[in-house]
Amino acid sequence: GKGNFRHFMEKELHEHPAVLGDTLQQYLDPGSRAVSLPPLPFDPATVPRLTMSACGSAFLAAQVGRYWIEQLARIPVDADVASELRYREPPLAEGGGAILVSQSGETADTMAALRLLRAGGQKVLSVVNVPESSMARESDGALLTVAGPEIGVASTKAFTAQLALLACLAIGFGRARGKLDEAQARLLAHTLTEVPGHAAQILEQDEEIRAMAAEVAKARDVLFLGRGALMPIAMEGALKLKELSYIHAEGYPAGEMKHGPIALIDSAVPVIALCPTGPLFEKTASNLQEAAARGGRIMALTDAVGARALRGFAERVIVLPTVHPFAAPILHAIPVQVLAYHVAVLKGTDVDQPRNLAKSVTVE
Ligand code: M6R
Repeated sequence: GKGNFRHFMEKELHEHPAVLGDTLQQYLDPGSRAVSLPPLPFDPATVPRLTMSACGSAFLAAQVGRYWIEQLARIPVDADVASELRYREPPLAEGGGAILVSQSGETADTMAALRLLRAGGQKVLSVVNVPESSMARESDGALLTVAGPEIGVASTKAFTAQLALLACLAIGFGRARGKLDEAQARLLAHTLTEVPGHAAQILEQDEEIRAMAAEVAKARDVLFLGRGALMPIAMEGALKLKELSYIHAEGYPAGEMKHGPIALIDSAVPVIALCPTGPLFEKTASNLQEAAARGGRIMALTDAVGARALRGFAERVIVLPTVHPFAAPILHAIPVQVLAYHVAVLKGTDVDQPRNLAKSVTVE
């Protein structure tokens, strides 16, 4: 049941700290701060190339995973939504590997991609939340997120659990490939062990996020911006808002805004910026200033240091815990989900069962 919560989604949002902790514990030893992965269908030390694929939110998690794996392990990764991968006749690398991501493990498009990849000689690893699912059975290997059953049609805790697992994979691959030394790997692993606590802190900022939601609920169009591994999280924010509130939202790479979407910006369009301190902060901040100069209403998710720089021109700033940039995508995923939840409640839409959507899409 829902316990004391109004919706399954609200309950599932509150499960973030536990689910992140449980998932990390499977792949990361908190004592030694070392990632330990079970035997995988491909050898990360030698695999020439990886293909990642999924649908919807799971695809956006895969895209973050791609950024991490390329950065930390220097393995070339392709990432495509499953419904495109299947028909684009991709040339697959000899001896290549694949990682497919799915909460249900039953999504028809992802299943079809799985079969295509296996037929093309790729060793397929599935990341699923349901151990007895079709994808787990048909893959060469499966890793489990430990999110528990997710009832809300809009994915929340399963998405962040996917991110946590993919983060562990990226560290493990980085070690296997000799691209991370032990100290670097330990630092990143330590960063992950702090994520469940930070997630709990973010859930306590509910009031602030709800106040932002009251503004967003009045809008007809909303833009979410981010760079690097925050870019797929911006897209996730837009997807969540569309699904739950039926407000038109777009997620965009912040640097791409000036190549078109900036034309949409006026004082009626909230621009939600995912802008933690890190190597890309200055670049994103200057994109936001461009939007503000055109009347755009900047609402930023950042950390304490970022807030100091953004307050001059941002209408609202939500200050998230200060973390290593590696963990920032996981943490930023939570407030965009909470925001979409509150907008939906304010608009009176069906939070757990949005119109036209099914939890598991088993048709192509
Ligand atoms: O079960 P899956 O993870 O394979 O589902 C994939 C998508 O259908 C799913 O993430 C969908 O986009 C959600 N409604 C997102 O909230």
